[in-house]
Amino acid sequence: MIRVEQSTNLKAKPPQGELGFGKYFTDHMFMLDYEASQGWHDARIVPYQPLTLDPAAKVFHYGQTIFEGLKAYHGSDGRVRLFRPEANIARMNRSNVRMSVPELDSELFLAALERLIEVDAAWIPSEPGTSLYIRPFVIATQALLGVAPSEQYQFAIIMSPVGAYYPEGINPVRIFVESEHVRASVGGVGEAKTAGNYAATFMSQQTAKESGYTQVMWLDSAQHRYIEEVGSMNVFFCIDGKVCTPALSGSILAGVTRSSIIQLLESWGIEVLERAITIEEVYEAGRAGLLEESFGTGTAAVVSPIGELCWRGEQLLIGDGRTGALSKRLYDTLTGIQYGTVEDRFGWMRET
Ligand code: COI
Repeated sequence: MIRVEQSTNLKAKPPQGELGFGKYFTDHMFMLDYEASQGWHDARIVPYQPLTLDPAAKVFHYGQTIFEGLKAYHGSDGRVRLFRPEANIARMNRSNVRMSVPELDSELFLAALERLIEVDAAWIPSEPGTSLYIRPFVIATQALLGVAPSEQYQFAIIMSPVGAYYPEGINPVRIFVESEHVRASVGGVGEAKTAGNYAATFMSQQTAKESGYTQVMWLDSAQHRYIEEVGSMNVFFCIDGKVCTPALSGSILAGVTRSSIIQLLESWGIEVLERAITIEEVYEAGRAGLLEESFGTGTAAVVSPIGELCWRGEQLLIGDGRTGALSKRLYDTLTGIQYGTVEDRFGWMRET
């Protein structure tokens, strides 16, 4: 049972052409509390509001927190659809287990998403390339400095009408390959969607940005050779007619878009090799003219062509820095399914 408290102070909606990513938030949010004695309880939709937390709350000190990211789309037929929410719910619970957070009830989670979207339906943008980005997250709220899992949590869902994640849109992005610092290590928490994995990338991201790069590509922690992922995306390469992507090693996020792209490619008869890929191999292929395309995938980034890499000072232009045919076809097909203009043969879309 989800209680709803309607906001009496509805906000003005921003112009759809100026949405950007994650700047505006809808009128309501979903909340759920956890106490060890009661489990998850008090499911409610309330006006969007600040959270009041004790300064000793464990999330501030030990980073016990998880988030997710998924989208709802205003279809060309006027219907609203969520893209693969079950996959995000399952991943959130895998992250919860890894970070010692009590698992959420999947049915309640899905019902909360649907009800919140219904309450804030007027916020779902309809212009091409826009969507409603949904950010569920959980934080450890117990005020206790002992280094142990919290006994209290808050789960919340907030929503933001968005346009393209990168200012480049579908145009290729430039990526800096980090050869000194690492994002995650084998056996660590790299595949959990936890805040520290992102904070760990900011220093390199800032440096990369100062040199004109949009994002950082991460290499493995042991040898600094094997490609893992890019800041907010999984990554794919088309080398000599074959598509490959780093295998999920435990330190890479298991992207929902990544798995969808693999399924799409396979449905077109294109084999995808999930394997270890070294940065040397990519550069050798590039120098030999065999690196046809590269692109990143993610909920926020969708399919984002990679036009240039910079590794140890050496620049590598990919596909003349232009959007490749396969990246374009994948982008068009995936977004077509999401907006309801391409048949959803995979059963990915959930009408709300
Ligand atoms: C997403 O694509 O949803 C992400 O989580 C990436 C980033 C915005 C954190």
